Amino acid sequence: MKFEYLNPTRLVFGAGSLSRLGEMAGTYGKRALLVTGGGSVKRSGTFERARNSLADAGITVFECEGVEPNPRISSVKRGAATARDNACDLIVALGGGSVMDASKVIAAAVLYDGDPWDMIHHGQPQPHVPTEALPLITVPTLAATGSEMNCGAVISNAETREKSFVQAECLYPKVALLDPELTVTVPKDQTAYGVCDLITHITESYFNGTGDTPIQDRFAEGVILTAMEYGPKAIADGNDLNARAQVQWAATVALNGWLSAGSGSAGYPVHMIEHTVSAFHDITHAAGLAIINPAWMRFAAKSNTAKFVQFAQRIFGLDAKGSDDLDCASAGIDRFEAFLKSIGCPTRLSELGLDDRLIETYAKETLRIVHDENGLLPGRPAMSEADVVGVLRAAL
Ligand SMILES: [Fe+2]
Repeated sequence: MKFEYLNPTRLVFGAGSLSRLGEMAGTYGKRALLVTGGGSVKRSGTFERARNSLADAGITVFECEGVEPNPRISSVKRGAATARDNACDLIVALGGGSVMDASKVIAAAVLYDGDPWDMIHHGQPQPHVPTEALPLITVPTLAATGSEMNCGAVISNAETREKSFVQAECLYPKVALLDPELTVTVPKDQTAYGVCDLITHITESYFNGTGDTPIQDRFAEGVILTAMEYGPKAIADGNDLNARAQVQWAATVALNGWLSAGSGSAGYPVHMIEHTVSAFHDITHAAGLAIINPAWMRFAAKSNTAKFVQFAQRIFGLDAKGSDDLDCASAGIDRFEAFLKSIGCPTRLSELGLDDRLIETYAKETLRIVHDENGLLPGRPAMSEADVVGVLRAAL
C-alpha cells in the first residue's frame, strides 16, 4: 500500500448546525452568492434561516436560484456572472448534489476568463484544470452525492449532450455544514436514490480496487451495512432524525476519499456509463446507477470473483464454497439488486422507458470521454466498447 490522503474541508455535523452558517462564512467573506435549486429550500424555510444567519454575521447575500438536477454549464455561467457583477467573495451552496457541484464550478469560473466548459473533461485534448476558486461552504439538504466534502463536480451540457466531471484541489469546500434536520423533508423516492448513490460510490471503489486492502474493505462494508440498515428507516419515516443522520454521514464518508484512500481504485465505470445515459435522457443519476450497477457487477464478478464472494459473505451472510464460488458471488449481487428494488429504485432501463436503440452510442460516448491508454474504460476489469454494450444490454 502506498498512498497520500488530503481532505482540507472542515466538517461541522449535527442537528441544528445550520445556525452556525454565518459564523463559518464570516471567516471567508463578506459578500456571498447563495446558490439554490428548484425552490424546496424556500418552501421549507431553510433558505430564510440560511440568509438570516448570513445577514446576522454582516454578510450581504446575492442569489443564484434554479440550478437544475443534472446541473448545466449554462447555470454555472449564470451564477459566475452574478458573482462577478456583485463582487462576491464567497459561494454558499444550499441544496443537493447538483447545487453543490454547480457551486464548485461557479467558484472556479468566477476567477477564470475562459469558457467554464473548458474545465469539464469532455474528451478535449487538454482540459483546463482550475487552480483557484472562491471559498465555498456547502450546506447539503439531501444525503446522496458526498459532494459536500470532496473536490469533484459533475456538470452537463444540454447543447452537446455531454455530462462529465472536473476534479481539482481548489474545489474542496472550506466548510461542509451538515445538519440532518434539513433532510427530514426529503421525499421517499429522493431518499432512496440518495441511499443508492452513496452505496454505489462505495461499491465503485470497493470492486475496482487492487484487492488485499483489508482495512479499506472493512470500512466500506461497514458503511454499506449502515446505509442498508438506516436507509430503509429514513425512507419509512422521514422524521427519524437518527436514521437521517446515519444516512447523511454515510453519504459524506462514501465519497470524501477516506474509504478509497489506498484502495488503488482503477476507476468509476458505473458512474461513467451512467453519465452518458443521463446526458442523453436527463434521467435521475441514482436511478441510472441502480440499473447499471447490478448489471456491471455481474460482468465484473466473472473476473474478480473473490471480491464479489467476499461482498456476498460479509454484506448478506451467504455461504461460499471457496473464493472462486461464482454462484455465491451471483447470489450476493441478486440480493443487492433486490435491496435496491425494495427501497423503490428501478433496476431495468425499460422502467425508465429506454430501449436498445442508442446502446452502441452510449458505449462509444462513454469511451470517447474517458479511456485509458489502450482505449478502454478504466475499471477492474477495464472495459471495451463491446463490454459496455453487454452491460447495458443486460440492464434492458
Ligand atoms: Fe454518484
